Amino acid sequence: MHAQRLIVRPGRPLSGAFRPPGDKSITHRAYLIGLLHPGPLEIRNPNLGEDCRATLRSARVLGARFENGVLTGAGMKLAEPEGILDCGNSGTTLRLLSGILAAQPFLSVLAGDRSLHRRPVERIVEPLRLMGAQVLARGGDRLPPLVLRGGELRAIGYVAPMASAQVASCVLLAGLFAAGRTTVELPGPARDHTERMLGSFGVPIEVHPLAGGGRRTTLTGPGRVTAPAGALAIPGDFSAAAFFLAAAAATPGARVRAEGVGLNPTRSALLEVLEHMGAGVERAHVRIEGGEDVGDVTVTGPETLNGFDIPPHWMPRMIDEVPAWAIAAAAARGRSRLAGARELKFKESDRLAALAANLARVGIEAHEGADGLEIIGGTARGGEVAALDDHRIAMAFATLGTFARGPVVVDDASTIATSYPGFLETLRGLGAEAEVAEETPRERARRETSGG
Ligand code: S3P
Repeated sequence: MHAQRLIVRPGRPLSGAFRPPGDKSITHRAYLIGLLHPGPLEIRNPNLGEDCRATLRSARVLGARFENGVLTGAGMKLAEPEGILDCGNSGTTLRLLSGILAAQPFLSVLAGDRSLHRRPVERIVEPLRLMGAQVLARGGDRLPPLVLRGGELRAIGYVAPMASAQVASCVLLAGLFAAGRTTVELPGPARDHTERMLGSFGVPIEVHPLAGGGRRTTLTGPGRVTAPAGALAIPGDFSAAAFFLAAAAATPGARVRAEGVGLNPTRSALLEVLEHMGAGVERAHVRIEGGEDVGDVTVTGPETLNGFDIPPHWMPRMIDEVPAWAIAAAAARGRSRLAGARELKFKESDRLAALAANLARVGIEAHEGADGLEIIGGTARGGEVAALDDHRIAMAFATLGTFARGPVVVDDASTIATSYPGFLETLRGLGAEAEVAEETPRERARRETSGG
């Protein structure tokens, strides 16, 4: 694939309104839970990025049909895939799908791109084995590809070592096929979309809050999923909107409104952080749609944004928004810190390292810690950053380019299509000056060896 160098030049403060794409996390779940529903389900506003397309592709291989926005699932018994299930760049596809495949009496092989093959899977291998599935993975069962020979599962009580929604979802989806009560305990407030969606598909599910913001979820199987009447509306993706909201917070005089965006409290701690930093944050038309909180959010950039230390227990509620937070922190007065974020080392890139290195490249002092980051705000001068196959790193630095003193070049923005195919249009629609230069692998190699 050709690299796409994205160049964002300094311009006027971002202003205007936009609709972010459909939520990526919720779209994955709609395709996977819809696959298990033996009838049609209309899915409105799905995320059209490559990650969700990987989930849909696998759902089709396993027996679902998808035409004109209507998914017709296969029910609880799926078709054995002839080949490898390609999860692309998507950890959510791999980890959630494994929960379903662990209960299917056939062989499944799940693989993806080079970034996916660096992401840990022992966190799902362990509970799925406890449930009785045969699971193997590369590197001593730590890394994809993952091979499953599924079969009859037993219900378990599982205490997850980290606040991971993907782990909880994997176990709950497997628990749908096991007789009895499957229980998962999470130590922190990770996103609860699976619990909400299973509940609205008629699966008996109980959620008990735990001290420290975690929860214990119990599902009684074997279950059947029954799609709710009417279409399933997917809210706008808060994690996608976050970049523009953070850039608005970072720019005095900027004012940006995200419309129809998901405001599930397990996802939206970034708004609380921006408020603490002194940005204007207004929520309007807040409502429940398809079992999820949705609304419009307007962020206004203050004259001075202040540094802020994020309480570590907020971290699971903004795990994907840390790259967006980092660009706001880069423009804040004084020091901002985050801790309790070791999980960021295992995302599409090592995000702690990627953020620290790229902030330094644009002229902002940042220090990486064992489980966090310290950023000393200042004036970003601009420069070239490395996206490292990580869509959120690419989007963070593209939006930083809107308020840096000089141009910001993202070395390869093609990864943004993973989650936000219309990102560039939104960026320009809000007034940014941005252009893309396609580069062949040979041109890229030549530029890199000449130090350009
Ligand atoms: C996701 C959960 C989070 C998040 C990821 C999407 C999901 O990962 O970072 O982008 O859709 O369940 P973890 O569950 O590993 O924290």
